[in-house]
Amino acid sequence: MTTSVKTARFVAHRDFAIGVVDRRLYGSFIEHLGRAVYGGIYEPGHPTSGADGFRNDVLDLVRELGVSIVRYPGGNFVSAYDWRDGVGPVESRPTRLDLAWRSTEPNLIGINEFLTWASRAGVDVDLAVNLGTAGIDAARELVEYCNHPGGTAWSDLRRNHGIEQPYGINLWCLGNEMDGRWQIGHKTADEYGRLASQTAIAMKLVDPTIELVACGSSHSTMPTFPQWEATVLEHTYDDIDYISLHTYYRNDDDDLGTFLAQSLGMDRYIDAVAATCDFVRAKKRSAKQLSLSFDEWNVWYHSTAADAETTSRRPWQIGPPLLEETYTVVDALVVGCMLISLLKHADRVKIACLAQLVNVIAPITTINGGPAWRETIFFPFMHAARFGRGTVLNLQVTSATYPNDTFGDVPLVEAVATLDAEANELTIFAVNRDQHDQLLLEGDLRGLAPLQVIEHLVLEHSDPKAVNTADRPAEVVPHAGGDAAMDEGLLAAHLPRLSWNVVRLRRGAG
Ligand code: AHR
Repeated sequence: MTTSVKTARFVAHRDFAIGVVDRRLYGSFIEHLGRAVYGGIYEPGHPTSGADGFRNDVLDLVRELGVSIVRYPGGNFVSAYDWRDGVGPVESRPTRLDLAWRSTEPNLIGINEFLTWASRAGVDVDLAVNLGTAGIDAARELVEYCNHPGGTAWSDLRRNHGIEQPYGINLWCLGNEMDGRWQIGHKTADEYGRLASQTAIAMKLVDPTIELVACGSSHSTMPTFPQWEATVLEHTYDDIDYISLHTYYRNDDDDLGTFLAQSLGMDRYIDAVAATCDFVRAKKRSAKQLSLSFDEWNVWYHSTAADAETTSRRPWQIGPPLLEETYTVVDALVVGCMLISLLKHADRVKIACLAQLVNVIAPITTINGGPAWRETIFFPFMHAARFGRGTVLNLQVTSATYPNDTFGDVPLVEAVATLDAEANELTIFAVNRDQHDQLLLEGDLRGLAPLQVIEHLVLEHSDPKAVNTADRPAEVVPHAGGDAAMDEGLLAAHLPRLSWNVVRLRRGAG
């Protein structure tokens, strides 16, 4: 008796180039929320913290993760944030109520401290301005504070605060999720569009080199999507450089088939926003093509019920535990599929931020006074950031499928490749969504030959719900035991059931 193995096939060729990976695709996000800042990146007195109070164990993990840029300081938090509260002598800074997350904000960390942390982490910063309760003045003054060399009130204030050289922050968000009723100072598309346009013009008058991200919808299921984008872009098209997308996927009903297919929805979402940008471009007869910033994306559902229950009766406090997810193997696969979706849209998506970075819906978890460890979702992100460089190739995958009520026929394999000319490497990223069986992936790589397998990394576990914890931080880790092999330009690799795979190949003979 022969047992048939399901297969997926692809062809990799230089002619199937999608676009070049912008390093900012591997961004992340730190908001003043829960224990992201206080107890996450910053914990004076922690055994690994130095004089500046930053946890070195967290910094090491952030560097290992390979994050390129970090969005800051929010998120919902930014919509009522006064950046002036967070600069100058710490002892004079006010303690405020953070209404977005019902927390106490001591302002021990502000823009200057965060930029110190970012430089230690080796990441760029994507700074968000408050367009909820604040507006043009606070935004243009912040650009002047950060980026103007000196000789003006705001730039000299920075110098008085001990930062002689301007930061030269290049990327700025014009508010956050301004379409959402939960947002302090939320607005209609016309209100926001006009304010964003006027703020953008003023900010660029201070520093014409900066790039700006306007708020798209908070997610694609908002009733105002995609009209929100169309209206906002009517106002801002000439003044901005990117429009934002946000999405978080859930698995409330333990419906793995639907959960694992969510990245197909992400593909459609990106396509719809790109099409809306191009619609406005056509209306405006503009030569400029807008790019996309997917500046919040992740899986988020484990913590929502507990958070909802405690929110109203939680006492005001600094750094309460909020949005703390313990991610499973399957969550990591969904994150892997989302990374593949982002790579497949590398022609339009130039910036993306895994939301968030530490403790809050994060790849890194800490215990106050205790250890820090890698969540399952850490690994696909780290692999993509490390190996997903150069030109993205569409693999034209033909795969066996499974039926799903929401997404129709879902391919069992999700895959994409990157061709890194500098390192002379081809990397294939692939997820096997099959809940029961391994799958044989066959690739025709003759157009890129000669190629040899460097390694086949796999993230898998006998229990799809396995997690990493403080006690068992290495329960779910990738291994290099995949069986990918090349034969005369043809690749064969078994992808274990429910697995994330990275097949690395070196180009050139011998
Ligand atoms: O990332 C958590 C929150 O999700 C952010 O503050 C907000 O922008 C989004 O709704």
